[in-house]
Amino acid sequence: MVCLGNICRSPLAEGIMQHMADEQDLDWQIDSAGTGGWHVGEGPDKRSTRTAHGRGIDISKQVCRQFSKADFEEFDHIFVMDKMNLSDVLAMAPNEEAAKKVKLLLGDKEVPDPYYDNNQFEPVFDLIEHGCKAIINRATS
Ligand code: 4NP
Repeated sequence: MVCLGNICRSPLAEGIMQHMADEQDLDWQIDSAGTGGWHVGEGPDKRSTRTAHGRGIDISKQVCRQFSKADFEEFDHIFVMDKMNLSDVLAMAPNEEAAKKVKLLLGDKEVPDPYYDNNQFEPVFDLIEHGCKAIINRATS
């Protein structure tokens, strides 16, 4: 799960996806990263932590890291939140096979960056949850 800062959206996506996979007894390892490196080593934004906590998901132990080329080998699927993340991640893909792993979490829509708007965290949670549910449904049906 990849966004710009790895403190707002992708930590939520990691927490939600891991929670849903665990509920379904799927042996999936979910991780998240940011294309930017400003917050490396920090925990998630408090607004994301609070929003997740309110929905029964603990993301407080996550630590921000920057997306790297090694992630193309480490992971089978790479979901990005918006089109800027998509082009930034695709620009790092070493080959066509790696590029094929990268998709927008919502298929064709974007998960907007809530960083500058406190009121966006709840709707962003809902959008991410919707995207994760679709992934689970595809994998389990
Ligand atoms: P995120 O939000 O990409 O959802 O983690 C942002 C967090 C921080 C910054 C940008 C976006 N920033 O520029 O520091």
